[in-house]
Amino acid sequence: MTLNSMAPLEPVIGVIGTGYLGTTHAACMAELGFEVVAQDQSRERVARLASGELPFYEPALAELVRRHTASGRLRFTADVADVAAAADVHFLCVGTPQAGEGMAADTSQVFAAARALAMCLERDALIVGKSTVPVGTTEALAAELAPLAAPGIEVEVAWNPEFLREGHAVDDTLRPDRLVLGVSSGEAEKALRQIYVDVIRDGAAVVVTDPATAELVKVAANAFLATKVTFANLMGELCEAAGADVTTLAESIGLDPRIGPQFLGAGLGFGGGCLPKDLRALIARADELGVGHARRLLGVVDEVNEGQRVRTVETAVELCGGSVAGVRIAALGAAFKPGTDDVRDSPSLAVAARLRDLGAIVTVHDPHANDNARAVEPDLCFAATPEDACRGASLVVLLTEWEELVRLDPRELRPYVAVPRMLDARNALDPQRWQLAGWEHRGFGRSSDRAQLSVGSRVRETELMQ
Ligand code: UDX
Repeated sequence: MTLNSMAPLEPVIGVIGTGYLGTTHAACMAELGFEVVAQDQSRERVARLASGELPFYEPALAELVRRHTASGRLRFTADVADVAAAADVHFLCVGTPQAGEGMAADTSQVFAAARALAMCLERDALIVGKSTVPVGTTEALAAELAPLAAPGIEVEVAWNPEFLREGHAVDDTLRPDRLVLGVSSGEAEKALRQIYVDVIRDGAAVVVTDPATAELVKVAANAFLATKVTFANLMGELCEAAGADVTTLAESIGLDPRIGPQFLGAGLGFGGGCLPKDLRALIARADELGVGHARRLLGVVDEVNEGQRVRTVETAVELCGGSVAGVRIAALGAAFKPGTDDVRDSPSLAVAARLRDLGAIVTVHDPHANDNARAVEPDLCFAATPEDACRGASLVVLLTEWEELVRLDPRELRPYVAVPRMLDARNALDPQRWQLAGWEHRGFGRSSDRAQLSVGSRVRETELMQ
């Protein structure tokens, strides 16, 4: 295969799958100046995207999609043959959800999409996987695709995992920390470097490796982040038992550059469409490969994380005097984290639903995720404002730390509730501020009755005295 046949100087980019990942990648490739054809099997989704409407909430993305559908650089199709005919480099961005039974990832969409594409190809092509897959997928895919392409047409498969966070998807794609290029040939590396030339010029680190390592880098990164959150939660449990404060502990250990401050937020734990299922898929793959220690460590991470949801519900029950039956509870937040309307495996929604199952009258308010949450949990009540959710409540639970919820004024919220009692499941509020306004405040892993001087304020004090 020659570079020219695989990726001409101005390659046309194909994107298969238009979920969070595919839509963001397609719009960002158009922003980088390429002509892009993005395909999805859902005609309804294609029609919405073509008219510039996003089927989900993601800051800055709708504007990019509208700009480039208008400029003609980005178009959407339901027909994979359109992509095969137009594009030179094809990015696979379809979902790899947790399989129906067990923990493994279901890669059937990846294989089905690649097979369909390979059968329509009219010239040599580079297929680049971006979805998160179990290690070994690229090799299996390459073996399966080779005989499917028409005689004389060569197909190379590479893996270039995506690290974008929901809520920051556009920025993470245009200005990533690193690009991991899992390639089997110098030609594929050259083609990908050419596509990402501006991103590399803007400072992204480039790691060139084999596809198996690239596949593992992605799941390892997510498993490490999950482990870090779970470590913070274990320390929170210890702090609670010992009368210490996990927020100060996390701030203090995070000042060590070898540890770093991020992903040490103890509380309700991680969720979403990636971290939990990628962790479980890695556990399943470690099992298949007979790597027992990895399986055990990551199994505990998953278990502790699920346990945080139970702890939160138990704390709510305790605060309500042993039972929540008939108790009015305001659940602030339903999305799995701020900045998104995604409620997939959301700890916040799981806690609200569990409290409802225990007999509480739960009203949920999320600034962007009410509709998605209602679709999953139609029996919950929803309110358009935090004040409406809090009306008559004997307990308010902060479940997702949206900025507008964290900034709520406890004095202004006070008249809406029956009992001023706050369970801050994300340790996002200032306990003193809420206590001074007359609220009972309970965080996670912190002694809320003792005034805590944070490390941040001590550092600032030291600076002021110098
Ligand atoms: C994650 C990875 O960050 C990203 O690189 C990958 O491509 C996809 O998966 P995302 O799912 O958008 O991205 O969520 P992220 O911002 O990583 O947060 C994951 C979860 O961890 C959230 O539920 C969040 O609330 C939780 N979290 C995060 C904590 O509980 N404590 C923290 O300190 C940080």
